[in-house]
Amino acid sequence: MEYGPIPPSKFDDVIHHLRYNFPDEPLNASVGLCMHGQPCELLEHHDLMTLKDGLSVMAVDKDTEVIAGVALNGIARQGDTERSLEEMKSIDNVPYQRIFGLLNSVNKEIDLFGKYNVDKIFELRILSVDSNYRGKGVAKELFSRSEIIAEEHGFKLMKVDATSLFTQKISESFGFHVEKSVKYGDYKDADGKKIYDTKSPHDYYKVMVKQLPSNG
Ligand code: ACO
Repeated sequence: MEYGPIPPSKFDDVIHHLRYNFPDEPLNASVGLCMHGQPCELLEHHDLMTLKDGLSVMAVDKDTEVIAGVALNGIARQGDTERSLEEMKSIDNVPYQRIFGLLNSVNKEIDLFGKYNVDKIFELRILSVDSNYRGKGVAKELFSRSEIIAEEHGFKLMKVDATSLFTQKISESFGFHVEKSVKYGDYKDADGKKIYDTKSPHDYYKVMVKQLPSNG
């Protein structure tokens, strides 16, 4: 397996990889924002903006040149969450509102910028491994390399919105701690129906962070 940065010439291939592999992400699978193999404009806009930050990393199978996995890493700046909540008001899409409403409201509440006194945070936003390459440590390696990139760029805080138990386990193994934990099953609509009916074992969304050593 070959690991490296994602050049703009590979952005289309990364989007293609995500169309076929990221719909398994527990929160997406529970609300149906993106369908397997289909374009998913709202999420792909976020993916491309994140790729343009130039901090993402991919794993490529050396023999077949297939993208085995990606970690899409972006920069979060103070005020981004509030701006995003404002922009959401004009987006008429229930699954999108449900996913980003949850992520944005939790992040607004915990205010990591204030708590850690930072003006930017390195966010591991998307971790995705091709189903043919799962269970071989690809995600762990992408995660580890992302942390190195964060340190090299002088970030003091790295954050993961870990919507899957597997990402929570990976984050924990790299010394991240839980900043906030919410149980999907606690969110119900007006009729008492679960809003996020995630499949077991993905019962919690956890915001996980790690303070990085300062190089300065
Ligand atoms: N059952 C139990 N534990 C698992 C499983 C599984 N099927 N898969 C991964 N894990 C856990 C284990 O703790 C494992 O560590 P260990 O082997 O040392 O115990 C750890 O995850 C890492 O395993 P990897 O082999 O590195 O993970 P993999 O390469 O298979 O990728 C991933 C995991 C990215 C979650 C993959 O299943 C995937 O792409 N899923 C769909 C998208 C998704 O849910 N992404 C994460 C959402 S959160 C976010 O993106 C920030």
